[in-house]
Amino acid sequence: STTVKKGPFGLRFRPVAPNTADALTVPEGYTQDVVIRWGDPLFKDSPRWSPTTQSGAAQRRQFGFNNDFLALLPLARGTQLLVANHEYTTEEMMYPGYDPANPTKEQVETSWAAHGLSVVTVQETRSGSLKPVVGHRLNRRFHTQSRFVLTGPVAGHALVRTKADPKGRTVLGTLNNCSGGTTPWGTWLTAEENFNQYFANAAQVSDPTTAQRLARYGVSGNATTRQWEKFDERFDLTVEPNEVNRFGWIVEIDPYDPTSTPRKRTALGRFKHEAAQPRITKDGRVAVYMGDDERFDYLYKFVSRDKVKKGTSRAAKRHNDTLLDHGTLYVARLTGDSPSAQIDGSGTLPKDGEFDGSGAWIPLVSGDRSFVQGFTAEEVLLFTRLAADQVGATKMDRPEDVEPSPVSGKVYVALTNNSNRGASGKAGPDEANPRKANKNGHVLELTERRNDSASTRFEWNLLLVCGDPSDPSTYFGGYDKSQVSPISCPDNVAFDRHGNLWISTDGNALGSNDGLFGVAVEGRDRGLTRQFLTVPFGAETCGPVVQRKRVLVCVQHPGEKDGATADAPASHWPDGGTSLPRPAIALVRRKDGGDIGA
Ligand code: FEO
Ligand code: CA
Ligand code: CA
Ligand code: CA
Repeated sequence: STTVKKGPFGLRFRPVAPNTADALTVPEGYTQDVVIRWGDPLFKDSPRWSPTTQSGAAQRRQFGFNNDFLALLPLARGTQLLVANHEYTTEEMMYPGYDPANPTKEQVETSWAAHGLSVVTVQETRSGSLKPVVGHRLNRRFHTQSRFVLTGPVAGHALVRTKADPKGRTVLGTLNNCSGGTTPWGTWLTAEENFNQYFANAAQVSDPTTAQRLARYGVSGNATTRQWEKFDERFDLTVEPNEVNRFGWIVEIDPYDPTSTPRKRTALGRFKHEAAQPRITKDGRVAVYMGDDERFDYLYKFVSRDKVKKGTSRAAKRHNDTLLDHGTLYVARLTGDSPSAQIDGSGTLPKDGEFDGSGAWIPLVSGDRSFVQGFTAEEVLLFTRLAADQVGATKMDRPEDVEPSPVSGKVYVALTNNSNRGASGKAGPDEANPRKANKNGHVLELTERRNDSASTRFEWNLLLVCGDPSDPSTYFGGYDKSQVSPISCPDNVAFDRHGNLWISTDGNALGSNDGLFGVAVEGRDRGLTRQFLTVPFGAETCGPVVQRKRVLVCVQHPGEKDGATADAPASHWPDGGTSLPRPAIALVRRKDGGDIGA
């Protein structure tokens, strides 16, 4: 049979087995389509993509590279608004014959255009798939030369002023957007992550304060890998020292308004932002949960000063456009409830049977008031990592996506891995990050006091300690480990309409391809983990969206080779034959048209 009757609604499918195929593999009874891929047209005048005719001008009219976060927003009947970001470019995989020592101007301009964001209207097809509406009036492409405005306390600050923008309010481009979120007022949030890699010549910066700030953000060395600094001096820190301070923010976009200018929201702090997912507080304000994806970095929350205005009136829109400019930024401190002697780094559960405890949200800055000694309010926002270092925040195992359950309000945090946990000179295991040299990562569940996202106190526990279930250091919410799929390196999280948690992975340390998993979080099935799909080798699985009849994933960097996959053959997904691999958004649905996992 094609369905599994056992288990909770939404997770009744036969799990996909781990594999290393150059394919997207889905459960029995399911089928798949590619919705849109790198190079596909968005506009009537978009040139047709081919590997040998790439240019900046063409790419600015086409879907970008390396899609990561994905949202589908409601539109008129039968259509939805697909919003995706394009995290980074891998030139060796994009340009046949690429010479990494001498990138051409055309290649660099193409890469500038392949970064950024896409807004694409999609139409539901008769078969249940989704198809881009080329030339729709809401379709947009944002890239490295598009206009973004800085808003909030840091806008106009001396440290964000540049020669091209002496007022410090207008930035060209958004870089390295990873995951994101959607707001209750109909906008889309996207997170600037590893912006450090685009800025050259940090090694030549002599001012000690500036050098320390750059170092804490991983901005280092001389020439960058892509050598953009050769073609635009704003990427050279010796020429334009402040350009780097204009990246590393949460960006808000109103995809329903094709004339809107995206905002970089400085009140949410600057770090290697992974994601930003809002939840309404009991008194009607908005909290935004965020992770800083670096080994030993932190979990954050922003709480707005003002309440969300309901409705779509012009007044409501104008008001909600200011919500993320005023509020309080917090960082998390987590305390375990078991004696530290019971946390030995092996992953063995402490005597109380759980990795769990309580926590506090420590305020860093609120409006123009800094809570961190030696930092002005603006400095806390610009150099948030350094401020958080001073207040005893808990060093986590790479906080990736963070998302509150729309059903229970509990907040789930993907902690992807940390090879350095417990290494000499580094923080050792603690109850919230309990394994030394954490290869497979874990998933934390956080419950705000009174279930109110404005609360400054919370309880937490680990839902999953990932890996092969036969590994004694793993934990699956107390569920029978003989009945779960192996899972490694959780990255993005999302929910289905039943409240099940869906987790996509990046960097599977178990030797198989990455994939997407459904996990039950409540009741007797808590911890039940089933693999729904695997992506082609070398790819990470991103942006999961689970609708009633569709699951969509962003297949990012198929065929990309790193240490573990250096000997893998070339990927030809999704076009097959001898084609270049192309990052793409894939859609999975049931062959019989039924509900996902029902
Ligand atoms: Fe872009 Fe933290 O993953
Ligand atoms: Ca405990
Ligand atoms: Ca990620
Ligand atoms: Ca998410």
